[in-house]
Amino acid sequence: MPLLAALYERFDRERPFDGLGIAACLHITAETAMLVRLLRAGGAAVSLAASNPLSTQDDIAAALAHRYGIAVFARAGIDRRGYYRHIEMALNEAPHGPDLVIDDGGDLVNTLHTRAAALLPNVKGGCESTTTGVIRLRRMAAEGALAFPVIAANDTATKRMVDNTCGTGQSAIDGILRATNTLLAGKTVVVAGFGASGRGVAERARGFGAQVIVTEVDPVRALDASLRGFRVLPMAQAAPLGEVFVTATGSVDVINAEHLSVMRDGAILANAGHFDVEIDVRALAGLAKAVHVDVRPHVDAYDLGDGRTLLLLAEGRVVNLVAAEGHPPEVMDLAFGIEALALAWLAGAVLGNTGDKLPAGVHEVPADIDAEAASLVLATTGTSIDTLTPVQLSYRESWRIGS
Ligand code: NAI
Repeated sequence: MPLLAALYERFDRERPFDGLGIAACLHITAETAMLVRLLRAGGAAVSLAASNPLSTQDDIAAALAHRYGIAVFARAGIDRRGYYRHIEMALNEAPHGPDLVIDDGGDLVNTLHTRAAALLPNVKGGCESTTTGVIRLRRMAAEGALAFPVIAANDTATKRMVDNTCGTGQSAIDGILRATNTLLAGKTVVVAGFGASGRGVAERARGFGAQVIVTEVDPVRALDASLRGFRVLPMAQAAPLGEVFVTATGSVDVINAEHLSVMRDGAILANAGHFDVEIDVRALAGLAKAVHVDVRPHVDAYDLGDGRTLLLLAEGRVVNLVAAEGHPPEVMDLAFGIEALALAWLAGAVLGNTGDKLPAGVHEVPADIDAEAASLVLATTGTSIDTLTPVQLSYRESWRIGS
């Protein structure tokens, strides 16, 4: 992770988080461990909880706790109560609560505003890593319920391109292949949602030789999919055709009982969206006459009792993190690099060092941070690009020059 390594040296020197407590709620993977160590190099006392009970890698959590002395509250497979208790423990690690927070999906910010509201006065700002979290935060801000400024790290152009599209595209397919060992070539793959993540999944599936159908609710995204050569259908029409289904919408019940009841025998169901609500797993259980758990690791077989069996991966949770290892390090290098730069900028802003006091609400990452992260990554790969000449600059800025 060369970008984080470069930032490590800078943060170690500049100490942007000196004396600050940061509570983070993230998937506990090796890449997250590198981010946590970077924040600590910048002077922060970091506490960490998991953002998904199934994606925690216990060996990483143990290494962070024992080798690096980080306050980690996470265990793979923990139940819902334990999951939220861990988030509360991470928030309460410092006596008055954290100064800054990092979230992935909004559960930490939600807990902070509901069950740990006494800590809110100490929280000066935060960062959110994924689309679902940003949507939840915007709803909170619209209701006037968000108590501090949060940077939407998810929304930078580079993050969405590299993480949501390339990362999810590759690792969701990786999770499906590891779990099922199925051949994608010639199969009909249905991708629900043609946003940043769904587009990546659809393109990678096509690269494997699958026939890809896209379902959408947004006419612009549906047109985009259609112009890129994908077949676009409503889910009710795609359901009887698909052999592999991948949801990536951030929405709920995208695959429901009506769709499940017309699916083909052996259909594989996977979710790449943040929460386990995109496939209606309760409806699937209701339709099934028998459920065979873990017929392979992360594969549950739902026997519908009429000769058809549907295969649910990772219990409907985010497949790339449960059945594979999440995004590759190169992806997280950039995503976390942007997050770390944004957080350092935010620390300066909320502490008043830069004079840019931020009000409560959701804020964009400053464009120069996006460009800086992309430039640093290009530099680490030895890629150089052109710069505008003075003539090109004045041409771009003048409205007097025409045909
Ligand atoms: P996005 O907003 O760019 O795209 C979502 C798309 O789904 C939109 O085009 C929307 O119109 C469509 N959609 C919504 N409801 C639908 C429905 N009922 N049927 C069909 N299409 C529907 O969001 P993005 O960035 O692609 O994220 C999608 C989800 O994936 C979010 O939950 C996000 O948090 C998650 N995510 C997961 C990652 C992973 O590692 N698995 C990485 C990044 C994001």
